[in-house]
Amino acid sequence: MSEIRDILVTSALPYANGPIHIGHLLEYIQTDIWARFQKMRGHHCWYVCADDAHGTPIMLRARHEGITPEDLIARVAEEHRADFAAFRIDFDNYHSTHSAENRYYANLIYARNRDKGHISKRSITQAYDPVEHMFLPDRFIKGECPKCGAADQYGDNCEVCGASYSPNELKNPRSAVSGAVPEQRESDHYFFRLGDFEALLKDWTRGGGLQPQVANKLDEWFAAGLQEWDISRDAPYFGFEIPDHPGKFFYVWLDAPIGYMASFRNLCDSPRGRAAGLDFDHFWSKDATAELYHFIGKDIIYFHALFWPAMLHGADFRTPSAIFAHGFLTVDGQKMSKSRGTFIKARTYLEHLNPEYLRYYFAAKLGPGVDDVDLSLEDFTARVNSDLVGKVVNIASRSAGFITKRFAGRLAPTLCDTGLFDAFVQAGESIAHAYERRELSRAVREIMALADRANQYIDEQAPWVLAKQAGQEARLHGVCSLGLNLFRILIGYLRPILPGTAADAESFLRIGPLTWAALAEPLLDREIAPFKPLMTRVEPAHIAAMLEASKEDLSAARPASAIEPTNPHLARDPIGAVVDIETFAKLDLRIARIRSAGPVAGADKLLRLELDLGGETRTVFAGIRAAYDPRDLEGRLTVMLANLAPRKMRFGTSEGMVLAAGPGGKDIFILSPDAGAEPGMRVK
Ligand code: MSP
Ligand code: ZN
Repeated sequence: MSEIRDILVTSALPYANGPIHIGHLLEYIQTDIWARFQKMRGHHCWYVCADDAHGTPIMLRARHEGITPEDLIARVAEEHRADFAAFRIDFDNYHSTHSAENRYYANLIYARNRDKGHISKRSITQAYDPVEHMFLPDRFIKGECPKCGAADQYGDNCEVCGASYSPNELKNPRSAVSGAVPEQRESDHYFFRLGDFEALLKDWTRGGGLQPQVANKLDEWFAAGLQEWDISRDAPYFGFEIPDHPGKFFYVWLDAPIGYMASFRNLCDSPRGRAAGLDFDHFWSKDATAELYHFIGKDIIYFHALFWPAMLHGADFRTPSAIFAHGFLTVDGQKMSKSRGTFIKARTYLEHLNPEYLRYYFAAKLGPGVDDVDLSLEDFTARVNSDLVGKVVNIASRSAGFITKRFAGRLAPTLCDTGLFDAFVQAGESIAHAYERRELSRAVREIMALADRANQYIDEQAPWVLAKQAGQEARLHGVCSLGLNLFRILIGYLRPILPGTAADAESFLRIGPLTWAALAEPLLDREIAPFKPLMTRVEPAHIAAMLEASKEDLSAARPASAIEPTNPHLARDPIGAVVDIETFAKLDLRIARIRSAGPVAGADKLLRLELDLGGETRTVFAGIRAAYDPRDLEGRLTVMLANLAPRKMRFGTSEGMVLAAGPGGKDIFILSPDAGAEPGMRVK
């Protein structure tokens, strides 16, 4: 084989405020397949990743759960690691952006850029929440759409009419954190002067490291002009404080890609990295000869193809060899949807289906471009069943029984058809080429064409007929041994995609981990283990159950609040986070009159309540249907939490919460007993 390459591969760092879902997995599976392929080819390939642990959403999420951001990111890191391990994503290192290594490199890259004049400072005006004492990112401002007037629209675009605008155009803006009316306040910010790097970036774009669609996108951005990039945020913020500017923090997207370096540094310093003699500079210095590839989704191209190479260059580090962007996952032709049950978490998938299926299906659909990938559930079932179970595994199950029963588990001493075996070996170069270029769907097609040939060979030789004929012992032995040798080559080619199945096949064949080079040597005159089915069929019932469970995930989801909603299941939860008196004082509890109450189509535990707050009307969904006949509620008083951030649910937006007490089910009580109360009154 040609010379051994040193390759560093990364996937984008998942945010530490939510679970891994199948959309994420498209990326991690694609990257893992590519990295495993490089390793099988004998290259020194290192695959690193980390949790992206900083930013406002993570800070607020932790606050709502009543825990520290450090506790939140530690918990989520464990969940992410477990999900990735179950899908056999084989990171060489998984680290965190909230780490000493990352702080070191973030400071270094910032300082070097600053010293060369690539950072400027100016004052900007931004929305400020006077209750929470914090500046508000766009997505934490809500209001009415300036174009169509739709209520409850976030930040910078309207989900109803599709208009985009700047958050200060919103009518009746409110902080999504506290509900307060935002003020405009000034503060100093630091900017990265992206325009300084225009020449470098143009060269880099034409250097062959970008897919054509991505290079075109960059040309559009060049034409529009490279804007300065705001890299600082004011306290309170969960991130790294900028060393010479107390109270100012690096924006999460500054230190996120630096997390790639930090994770690799952490690997270099680990016992494993030291034993391998891993040298950080060989991969990152300006004149590094090692290859560096970033797999990312198409939504984050701007950060990786513009800011990242510019920041690296400005700090005297190398730029990436290439960026590999992929498209988005759709399910049955549509965006993943919580209400259809197609927003499937990695965990939920694992409770119902074998991870090898999804790895195979994604590989069968992935090409080198940025097109979206559709997971069609019917096609998924059909392909896994016909290709993997019907073709690949079938070759082994048709051959193995005879070897075990008639030949004491021992393979024949010679190949009975070297031409066929050689054709399988030779096909490997084209398959390897497809893997190398991330043409995974082509690799899969070529492998399946070989599987068809192997099955055809067995059909023609009909070992079950030979087994009944006298004097055909040697031929039967030869045919079945060749069948298993062809199976071994196929498993070798599929190994980057199906690591679990390959490991089971390796123990069945009693061989060590397959390498690409080893495939050319046949397996002769040695014992194999008795055959056990390597994979079972996808059952449509399991898919249906997974979709159902994904819908349930939604209705059981805890709101990001210290107070639980009136959901009978949650009402039985043990007491959770401790709330201090200041936090409690922020709760705006009001008397409300129930104007109307009615069922909610598709949610049999809920009632929709229209609540009169003495002038203002709110819609609230409450899980009290088992406890109340809606007619008994109309006209009565209840107590509601009025300053809870509105929550989008499958059937509409819930604008608050009614307070409930009781063990749950039928025994749950929401009515206010106080006859003297008036709607809108504050409850003290
Ligand atoms: N934290 C940033 C990345 C920082 S990299 C220095 C981020 N995190 S993410 O959790 O939102 O997404 C992680 C990766 O998963 C991104 O590359 C993103 O494009 C990808 N995907 C997230 N949802 C996806 C789909 N539905 N389909 C395909 N990929 C998707 O962005
Ligand atoms: Zn609108």
